[in-house]
Amino acid sequence: MIVLGIESSCDETAAAVVEDGHRILSSVVSSQIGIHRPYGGVVPELASRQHVKVIIPVVSEALQRADLDMSAVDAIAVTQGPGLVGSLLVGIGVAKGLAYATGKPLVAVNHLEGHILAAFLEESPPSFPLIALVVSGGHTNLYYVKDYSNITLIGRTRDDAAGEAFDKVAKFLDLGYPGGVVIDELARSGNPGAVSFPRAYLEKDSLDFSFSGIKTAVVNFVRKYVDSNQGDGIGIYGNSGASAKQLPVQVADIAASFQEAVVDVLVVKTCAAAQRFDASQVVVAGGVAANSRLRERLREEVARLGLPLMLPRAELCTDNAAMVAAAGFHQLKKTGGSWDLDFDAISRWPDLPASS
Ligand code: KG4
Ligand code: ZN
Repeated sequence: MIVLGIESSCDETAAAVVEDGHRILSSVVSSQIGIHRPYGGVVPELASRQHVKVIIPVVSEALQRADLDMSAVDAIAVTQGPGLVGSLLVGIGVAKGLAYATGKPLVAVNHLEGHILAAFLEESPPSFPLIALVVSGGHTNLYYVKDYSNITLIGRTRDDAAGEAFDKVAKFLDLGYPGGVVIDELARSGNPGAVSFPRAYLEKDSLDFSFSGIKTAVVNFVRKYVDSNQGDGIGIYGNSGASAKQLPVQVADIAASFQEAVVDVLVVKTCAAAQRFDASQVVVAGGVAANSRLRERLREEVARLGLPLMLPRAELCTDNAAMVAAAGFHQLKKTGGSWDLDFDAISRWPDLPASS
């Protein structure tokens, strides 16, 4: 079965053609990073406008690269949520139009389910039951995945997503955008033990996360030195107002120490979930899964549990439409498909229901 996937939930416009939920025939992603960079974060209105501009060419290119036209497509899958409403509506509108014009079934997909099922697009797919950590700019969730359509949320962030913390700390330190990539790079030359930032493990046995405290701890750490040395700076810490002279450590040390604290919590909770649910495998997805220190630590710690770890390649971890097509395929297999075009975007979709 050939599924055309369409994704526009945040700042990537994407379309892909996937066969049987596994073989990627084409995957096109148009990123808006350059548009949002001057603002240090995604500007929803600009995101919607850009989706409108590029979505038709992106879908056409996906079909072209797969060497297919719409007549060869068996179904269309589109991200219904969670995400920015204005952005989601662009993909949904195009998908509905295509379904209406061609008479093909249309499936509405949960973006997070897509992230989890992205692992099944790899050469050797993971085995069930598995624990999936979805860690991005908008989400930090742990799932117990029994099979394709039996997915339970077992932990989530109570405030900021891990990627959001990376982005906010980078913005505060004026390091550039997207923050995760810059901090990852800078942290390589820093000492992760230089500053002891807090790790929020929450209540005993909790699999939830909290990253707003560590972000505040970084701000307070820097401000402490700015306040006591005001007017003295050379301003290399941009938004923070601090300078290299004033701080007792280098900015690379702050980046490495912050990253280490975030990674510690992600690794400890993911391993705890794997043990508690007796998983046979751990899967990680989302933009933060590209973080080199997180990958390194997860490899070590998951191996210590004697479990295989699946870290999909970077283009499958970040937002893409192949994962949407894969999730759509599994949903279609279960439900037989739907011709219902009467659905809306769901901006906040905190719990991930199984696709039943
Ligand atoms: O999944 P994604 O592309 O978009 C969504 O948020 O859905 O994730 C983007 C997030 C951003 O917060 C970005 O800073 C973070 O992933 N990120 C990283 C790295 N690469 C991207 N965070 C830490 N280390 C990285 N190497
Ligand atoms: Zn995402």
